[in-house]
Amino acid sequence: MKFLRLLFFSFLMAALPAVALAQAKSECVTCHENVNPGLVKQHLAGKMAQAGIDCSACHGSAHKTMDDFKNAKMPTPETCKGCHAQRVEQYRAGKHNLAWFAMKTQAAWHGIPASIGKDGYRGCSGCHKMGEKGLVGAAQGNMGAITHDDGTEAAKYRYGNAQCDACHTRHSFSREEAKDPRACSNCHMGFDHPQYEMYISSKHGIIWAADGTKSDGRAPTCQKCHMTNSNHNVVTSWGFLGLRIPTKENVLALVKVAPSLEKQLKSLAAALPSGNFVDVDDDPQWTFNRALILQAAGVLDANLQPTKRFVEGVVQGRIARGPEEFNKLRAGMKKTCNECHSMAYVNDFFKAADTTIKEVDALYAKAISAVQGLYKDGILKKPKGWDYAPDLLQYYNAPTSIEQELYLIMLEHRQRTFQGAFHVSNDYMHWYGWAPTNTAVNVILEEAKKMREEHAAKKK
Ligand code: HEC
Ligand code: HEC
Ligand code: HEC
Ligand code: HEC
Ligand code: HEC
Ligand code: HEC
Ligand code: HEC
Ligand code: HEC
Repeated sequence: MKFLRLLFFSFLMAALPAVALAQAKSECVTCHENVNPGLVKQHLAGKMAQAGIDCSACHGSAHKTMDDFKNAKMPTPETCKGCHAQRVEQYRAGKHNLAWFAMKTQAAWHGIPASIGKDGYRGCSGCHKMGEKGLVGAAQGNMGAITHDDGTEAAKYRYGNAQCDACHTRHSFSREEAKDPRACSNCHMGFDHPQYEMYISSKHGIIWAADGTKSDGRAPTCQKCHMTNSNHNVVTSWGFLGLRIPTKENVLALVKVAPSLEKQLKSLAAALPSGNFVDVDDDPQWTFNRALILQAAGVLDANLQPTKRFVEGVVQGRIARGPEEFNKLRAGMKKTCNECHSMAYVNDFFKAADTTIKEVDALYAKAISAVQGLYKDGILKKPKGWDYAPDLLQYYNAPTSIEQELYLIMLEHRQRTFQGAFHVSNDYMHWYGWAPTNTAVNVILEEAKKMREEHAAKKK
């Protein structure tokens, strides 16, 4: 009898955990184990399910049967905010939240067939869906601070409004996965921003791989440098395009070099912040070259005055930074490097990397002037429907091969030069960046000369 009781007891002990688990299973899990077993397995293995979070915490409980699943809510960061307020706030203060808005600021995007650009989350929208939908900017008549349409645009899309699953993919929502540089690599790769390829081919990436891909090893990961202390607010000093907002002082210094532009320059200066960029050697020639780039992007008009694109891209979309923010971000980044390198080493590094932008801007400005000259002299004609010409933001819609080259410098060659320098990738910086920039500028200058000769011959 005693033996039997013992047997019964040990049977109970063995069965209890299974019984308890079965009882804890929600009706969502029980049914979905048949509907999508893989999804449920991943959910149950994650930290959240282990802490007792059910499907209904993110999808609500309005859907309960096989055919009312349209009542299930699709989560947004607002859903996560209830339990992870700090992360959501940081995320919203950073640039990832602006990704959808930034995409829509591009003239070229608006002409793309929906299946290539917008629908199905392939192409632009596949990477840029990590940004919040419905931010209202200058293109919709809002010339002030960016505002929100309260869900109107997001409501048109059933899926793809979650944002947070860009790094913590569903339904594991794992911290470990998000700490791995490969979590960034589906987006930060390829044509115009190959940061993953550059990292992997740098000594930092090589040590990370050789030492077993540890996130806190001898060499830094993307996250170590860009999400220091788990801060979800990502932003860098130079940004994607290696641009800065010129300061009052930068622009006024130009008056001496180009006195004929005094009126325009003074009017531009009045709209700009005051201050200076640490580390950066701001000679007037560089300011002038940068102004040409901004002009070719339609951010400054023919008279060097800020346009609607300046408001939308630079101010609302935060594509470029003024001195205060630039310097603060730079100081933070250097502090991270300083954990493993001497400050002297780090200062040398940044001086050289910043100067690559100056050098590549000087080359680029030559090519831009040549193409602008063709428009000024009537050799090229402004395409119908374009507000500016040349217009870098029209990308591959550019009508002539000379402008196609100009676009490739902007999005491919120039980018790789400075991004490669900052990510310590020698090959990207030189052979995929600087070298093709030179080739493209030479092609443009030669082509411009030919076009002028042909134009002159036709006139005769
Ligand atoms: C009786 C079975 C059953 C129950 C109970 C159930 N679901 Fe579903 N659920 C389904 C089916 C079937 C689908 C449709 C799957 C498909 O499209 O392939 C679905 C779809 C979904 C979707 C996707 C909706 C979409 O538009 O893609 C979500 C999210 C979801 N369920 C969450 C839940 C949650 C949360 C619960 C518990 C509150 C729950 N389900 C309970 C059967 C069930
Ligand atoms: C009802 C509260 C609640 C909601 C809603 C919620 N979480 Fe969580 N989350 C938790 C809890 C509790 C944990 C577990 C904490 C622990 O074990 O350290 C957690 C952990 C996490 C982790 C860390 C996992 C790990 O591997 O350490 C991530 C990432 C995460 N949540 C992301 C999200 C995202 C993204 C959303 C929105 C789509 C979300 N959470 C919604 C409560 C919630
Ligand atoms: C492979 C994923 C991917 C695709 C496809 C993609 N982008 Fe991006 N885009 C990114 C990433 C990543 C960045 C940030 C790069 C950086 O900062 O170096 C970015 C940056 C941008 C920026 C600059 C934002 C800023 O503040 O500097 C704009 C504008 C932009 N993309 C528009 C587009 C448009 C328009 C398309 C389609 C024609 C497109 N992107 C396609 C991933 C992508
Ligand atoms: C921590 C929040 C969270 C929990 C818990 C959660 N989900 Fe989800 N679920 C998401 C997010 C985020 C998406 C992506 C939404 C989007 O793309 O807009 C999603 C999408 C889905 C989809 C449609 C997309 C697809 O891949 O098919 C289904 C179905 C789904 N969830 C079912 C479930 C079920 C069943 C459970 C419980 C076993 C569950 N979810 C638990 C956050 C959650
Ligand atoms: C760009 C990638 C990325 C995106 C997007 C992202 N996270 Fe994270 N998240 C990380 C990384 C990296 C960590 C790990 C930090 C660490 O442990 O050092 C992390 C950690 C977390 C954790 C673990 C606990 C903690 O607080 O550190 C939570 C919770 C979390 N994220 C929530 C969110 C939410 C909510 C969103 C959407 C607003 C989000 N994450 C979007 C990269 C991301
Ligand atoms: C050793 C630190 C470090 C690591 C590791 C690192 N970065 Fe960077 N990253 C930088 C620095 C420095 C800059 C330039 C900062 C500035 O503008 O002053 C930068 C700039 C960027 C930019 C802005 C455009 C550009 O390329 O200049 C993006 C986007 C970016 N990094 C993404 C990544 C991704 C994704 C990874 C991993 C695949 C990564 N970074 C790895 C230090 C790092
Ligand atoms: C789903 C695609 C996607 C993933 C995954 C992703 N990013 Fe991004 N990232 C973008 C896009 C798009 C932008 C440009 C947003 C903008 O500027 O409006 C961006 C911008 C950035 C910037 C700001 C550059 C600047 O302009 O200053 C940094 C830094 C960055 N990402 C780092 C990371 C890191 C580190 C990871 C991985 C932990 C990561 N990203 C994961 C798409 C992605
Ligand atoms: C977690 C430690 C760590 C951090 C943080 C770190 N590095 Fe490194 N870095 C290393 C190690 C280890 C090496 C390899 C040293 C060697 O070549 O002997 C290295 C190498 C380098 C090299 C030489 C690469 C070559 O090809 O010779 C440069 C340049 C460099 N780091 C710059 C930086 C900059 C700039 C930052 C900050 C943006 C930074 N590092 C942040 C650990 C770090």
